[in-house]
Amino acid sequence: MVDVILGLQWGDEGKGKIVDYFAKNYDVVARFQGGPNAGHTLYVDGKKIVLHQIPSGIFHEEKTNLIGNGVVLDAVTLKRECENVAAFGVDYKKNMYISERAHLILPTHRAIDKASELSKGNEKIGSTLKGIGPAYMDKTGRNGLRVGNLLDKSFTTEYIKLRLKHQKILESFNFQEDISAWEEEFFEAIEFLKEFKIVNGEYFINDKIQKGQRVLAEGAQGSMLDVDFGTFPFVTSSSTISAGVCTGLGVAPQKIKEVFGVSKAYCTRVGSGPFPTELNDETGELIRKTGSEFGATTGRPRRCGWIDLVALQFACMINGVTQIIMTKADILDNLDELKVCNSYLVNGEEKNYIPFQMNKVNIEPVYKSFEGWKTDITAMHDFSELPQQMKNYIDYLNTFLKVPVKYISNGPGKEQIIIA
Ligand code: GDP
Ligand code: IMO
Ligand code: MG
Repeated sequence: MVDVILGLQWGDEGKGKIVDYFAKNYDVVARFQGGPNAGHTLYVDGKKIVLHQIPSGIFHEEKTNLIGNGVVLDAVTLKRECENVAAFGVDYKKNMYISERAHLILPTHRAIDKASELSKGNEKIGSTLKGIGPAYMDKTGRNGLRVGNLLDKSFTTEYIKLRLKHQKILESFNFQEDISAWEEEFFEAIEFLKEFKIVNGEYFINDKIQKGQRVLAEGAQGSMLDVDFGTFPFVTSSSTISAGVCTGLGVAPQKIKEVFGVSKAYCTRVGSGPFPTELNDETGELIRKTGSEFGATTGRPRRCGWIDLVALQFACMINGVTQIIMTKADILDNLDELKVCNSYLVNGEEKNYIPFQMNKVNIEPVYKSFEGWKTDITAMHDFSELPQQMKNYIDYLNTFLKVPVKYISNGPGKEQIIIA
């Protein structure tokens, strides 16, 4: 049996904290897509740590962690991350497994990502520059190198062949940077990677499922960044939705049970692209400041705005969300008024669906206002303690989305979570 935790917005919904909270109920925690573009923040013994590629179950000593085939893996970042978790006393090699089918992010992928973004001028995606797009392009273009290839004698030869192809691409972008230092780091890091338990992830996980173990699939990014259903082209390059669990781990759809969708009580986006409910005013600034809305991977300020129920409803539909986890509710504690977007005025016409090219039409959000709760909720533990105004807000979401908000996160700490 597999349950999924994934983001319903444009990423950074608080998935890391939620996976860490739920991990105690599972035997295996598995990442199924994305790569070091992700930044999942956890608090361990009151200390902050950001995970990029290591599954967020790593701090639970007895749990198995798997990096699935759908992930694109950067050995250099992984090595650094392992050193960080080791500082917390974690024996990361003991319980972490890596699928042999996961594609490797090469130094030239990072260079191409950078060159491609530079070439886009005002049309930049706002990529994290971690090489994600180029690595997935080499996967679907049938060129890439996989973790399992590290064990081949021909690995270096294959690397050089691919590098030559990449060199041509970089020349076409007129990219001049010297990447030899990145390559040196890369070759050092792949030696480190070879020491891991490299497995056939699909047999590994299905064997566990057959034995009755419980698997938690951890999503990265968010549904509105999905390569098919997100705000294309301002998206990432993987399937961030529940369907990505099947292809990214090798599990059949019938094995998936609960789909926990994580959404902030408001909305953020980092990088470029449409964001209908964005607030370019002092309320947006206040949310950014109160919520410390700065990218966990790049440090960029996150764009902030009101919760968008048109987008959330869409995300619930494409993912088959069974329960919603609402995070960062405490960030709205001081607001007099809250707004939720119920529909869009698309070129002046009211619509309740996501337009084909969100960036090419004029979208004006239609809002419903709610009275703020003006109460500090961070120390509350029980639903009954929550202010009535907040319950009204949640009730409205439940009715609108027809998927229940089952958990409310009221602070960054692992135990700051309230069951509705
Ligand atoms: P992820 O990428 O979805 O894992 O989310 P990030 O870690 O990038 O961003 C979420 C940020 O919000 C992190 O700094 C978390 O520590 C923090 N966070 C998560 N849940 C809550 C919450 O309920 N309240 C507050 N105040 N912070 C939270
Ligand atoms: P987590 O897992 C928020 C965004 C980037 C950019 C776009 C494409 O922490 O929620 P990419 O590097 O994938 O080519 O960038 O996607 N992006 C994220 N935004 N959270 C993330 O991950 C993201 N990963 C990528 O900002 O707009
Ligand atoms: Mg993040």
